[in-house]
Amino acid sequence: MTKIKATSKQHDGLSGDIIIAGDKSISHRSIMIGALALGETIITGLLEGDDVIATINVLRAMGIDIYKDDSGLWHVHGNTIGSWQQPRKILDFGNSGTSVRLMMGLLAGCPFKSFITGDDSLNQRPMARIVAPLTEMGAEIHACDDNYLPAMVNGKKPLIPISYRLPMASAQVKSAILFAGLHQHMPTTIIEPKMCRDHSERMLSDFGADISITHDDNKVRHIHISGKNMLKAQHISVPSDPSSAAFFAASALISPNSVITLPKVSWNPTRNGFFKTIQEMGANITTNIFGDGDGEQYADITIKTSQCKNIHIHADRAPAMIDEYPILSIVAACSEGTSRFEGVGELRVKESDRISAMTKGLQACGITTREGEDWFEIDGNPGNITGGVTIETSHDHRIAMSFLILGMITKKPIIIDDMRFIATSFPNFIDLINNAGANISIVD
Ligand code: S3P
Repeated sequence: MTKIKATSKQHDGLSGDIIIAGDKSISHRSIMIGALALGETIITGLLEGDDVIATINVLRAMGIDIYKDDSGLWHVHGNTIGSWQQPRKILDFGNSGTSVRLMMGLLAGCPFKSFITGDDSLNQRPMARIVAPLTEMGAEIHACDDNYLPAMVNGKKPLIPISYRLPMASAQVKSAILFAGLHQHMPTTIIEPKMCRDHSERMLSDFGADISITHDDNKVRHIHISGKNMLKAQHISVPSDPSSAAFFAASALISPNSVITLPKVSWNPTRNGFFKTIQEMGANITTNIFGDGDGEQYADITIKTSQCKNIHIHADRAPAMIDEYPILSIVAACSEGTSRFEGVGELRVKESDRISAMTKGLQACGITTREGEDWFEIDGNPGNITGGVTIETSHDHRIAMSFLILGMITKKPIIIDDMRFIATSFPNFIDLINNAGANISIVD
């Protein structure tokens, strides 16, 4: 496939109420958990990005009926995992780490062989973190070099219950074990030293799973899921994705004469670290928070042009904003002083090595950065960033969007080498931001 370049130039200001696309994590889970639940799950606001479509296509290949009706609602006709069919083709997860890692948890409970692969980027991302616990639960998994796709998963029924301490803060690992834990006779326990996004726990509970949370003397979270769950179909309304909203918030912050409002963004405390951080950096931002009791919370967020100051972010905040470091790096480059981000080694194994992609790209734009294995620093240079370069986006949607936003304020426009991957998480990003006043276009 041919790369498509795009360029971003200065503009006069961003404005308006902007409806950001649905949350990617909640969208994947609503399709997967819907596929396991008896009856018809109906989903409003599903993210129709390439990653979620990959999840839908994989489940369709296993006999699950999933479709969109004329009014835009998605319908999933779920069934117990015992009735899922063996896929008669290789399951291709494209660029989507969340799809493949969560689905491996489900395939571990399907007593047949499934063959799985992804694109060049996904096939270089580590899978041992998923293979290890699922193998302990009794699934047979063969991965390239025991760590990479393509792989074969031979599921077992029933699986063996385990008690597993997460070696890293990863909602994908946690969710894969939870999903596998639905298909055994005894409870499985996950010990989570650093809490990360909890959409799987919340949604499984809403669908009627036998799941509970306790805390030990050190306040560490233990999640217990018992087997033999009979899930019941639900209606799900997917809120706007805070990770996608972060790109708009940052663009309004750094651009002149801007004020935008982002309605009904997920305000789940395991996801809102970026907004807290920019507030601490001095952003002019107001939030109107609402939601239902113990359930998911939402916020209408208004952001105005602001001159931010540097920040030092410690490792404990990383899980609540792990996908936002690329765009936070752009805010840091436009802020006064040196910003430092610690405990972010996981960024090296995302869709690209994000520490390297951001520091290289920022340096090309005239910004000084320093990095170690799990930290990096950016010397802000507000009002003085050169640009005029082509940025390598490395199959990574968040690197692509981040540099298009930086191009809004650089002295010379920025070109990104490939905009296609933006569609994995935010298909209407360019139209939406141009409608708000940006100046982004395809380069012929
Ligand atoms: C996700 C978890 C995170 C995040 C990813 C989505 C999820 O990955 O980076 O974009 O939906 O569970 P890790 O589990 O690797 O931290």
